[in-house]
Amino acid sequence: MTSLDRRLCVAPMMDWTDRHCRYFHRLFTPHALLYTEMIVAAALVRGDAGRLLEHDPAEQPLALQLGGCDPLELAAAARLGAAAGFAEINLNVGCPSDRVKNGSFGACLMLRPALVAQCVARMRDAVSIPVTVKCRIGIDARDDYEFFAAFVEAVAAAGIAALIVHARAAILGGLSPKENREIPPLRHDYVHRLKREQPQLCLVLNGGLGDAATASAQRGALDGIMLGRAAYHRPRLLAELEQAWFDPARVPPEPERILAAMVGYARRERDKGVRLHSISRHMHGLVVAQDGARAWRRFLSDIATRPDAEPETLYAALPILRLPWAA
Ligand SMILES: Cc1cc2nc3c(=O)[nH]c(=O)nc-3n(C[C@H](O)[C@H](O)[C@H](O)COP(=O)(O)O)c2cc1C
Repeated sequence: MTSLDRRLCVAPMMDWTDRHCRYFHRLFTPHALLYTEMIVAAALVRGDAGRLLEHDPAEQPLALQLGGCDPLELAAAARLGAAAGFAEINLNVGCPSDRVKNGSFGACLMLRPALVAQCVARMRDAVSIPVTVKCRIGIDARDDYEFFAAFVEAVAAAGIAALIVHARAAILGGLSPKENREIPPLRHDYVHRLKREQPQLCLVLNGGLGDAATASAQRGALDGIMLGRAAYHRPRLLAELEQAWFDPARVPPEPERILAAMVGYARRERDKGVRLHSISRHMHGLVVAQDGARAWRRFLSDIATRPDAEPETLYAALPILRLPWAA
C-alpha cells in the first residue's frame, strides 16, 4: 500500500475544492495532500464518472472523498476512483447537511460505527490504495470522549490508513452546515488524547486551524493537520507551511508567478470550454493585504466574470498584485 505524507492536507470543501481550486492550491504547495469535494457514491456509480472524477495530474497527491452508506456501492465508487488515479479514498462521516442526513450518510454515520466499519472493509477489499475516514468527534448530545473513542475503535478495526477528525461534534437539526463549522466547540484535546492512547493510529487534526503558528503547535505528536477555510481564504498559508515543514529553500511564490501559471491553466481549460470565472472565482485569496485585496476582489468580480473574459484578462491585475500583499 502506498504511504502518503499527511503532514499537510487541504480539506474537502463542497463547491470550493473543485479541480480548478486544487490546481491553484497545488501552485502553493507541492507536498500537501489535496482532497476533492465530497462525491456521492451513487452519483459516481450511476452517473458521469468521467466528469465527476476529472482532474489534472498536477493535482496529485489527490484523495477522492466519497459520501454514502452502502458498502457495495461505496466499493464500486472506490474502484472507479482508484482506476481514475486517485491516491486515496476517503469516506465522509462528518457532513451535517439535511440532504446528506436524508440519505443517511455523512455525520449521522457517527451513530453507526459497525456500518462504517463494513463500508471501510468493502472499500479496502475493492482497492489497493489507502482508505481513510473523515469524521467528527461526536453527534448531537453525544460529544463525550468515550463516544468518540468507541466510534474510532470500531472503525479502526476495519483497517483505515488514517483518520481525519474535524474536532467538533455535528448538531443535526437546528444548525446549518455553516453553523456546524462554527458553533459546536472545538475539542482538539480529544484528538491528542486519542493519539496518546492509540499511537499506532495515523491521525490528522482538522478544525479551526487558522495560521501557521497554530497549525505547527497543533501538529505536535499527530501525523498531520488539515486546513479548510484558512487554506481557501489565504492560500499563501499553504506556501508558508510548505516552506516550514517540507522545504526551507522554497520561498513562497510571488503572486505574479501564480497568476501567470493560472493564465496558462485557464488557456488550456478554455480550449475545453471552461469559462474564466469558473477558475478565477477561487483566486480571491491570492491577495490578502487590505488595500490590494479589495482592489483584487473588485477586479475579479467586475472583469473576470464577464462572459467574454479571456485568461489574459487576468494580466490587467498585475499592478494590484505588485502592492504589498502579505498580511
Ligand atoms: C464550503 C465548505 C464545504 C465543505 N464541504 C465538505 C465536504 O464536502 N466534505 C467534508 O468532509 N467536509 C466539508 N467541509 C468541512 C471541511 O472539510 C472542514 O472539516 C471544516 O471546514 C473545518 O475545517 P476548517 O476550520 O479548517 O475550515 C466543508 C467546509 C466548507 C467551508
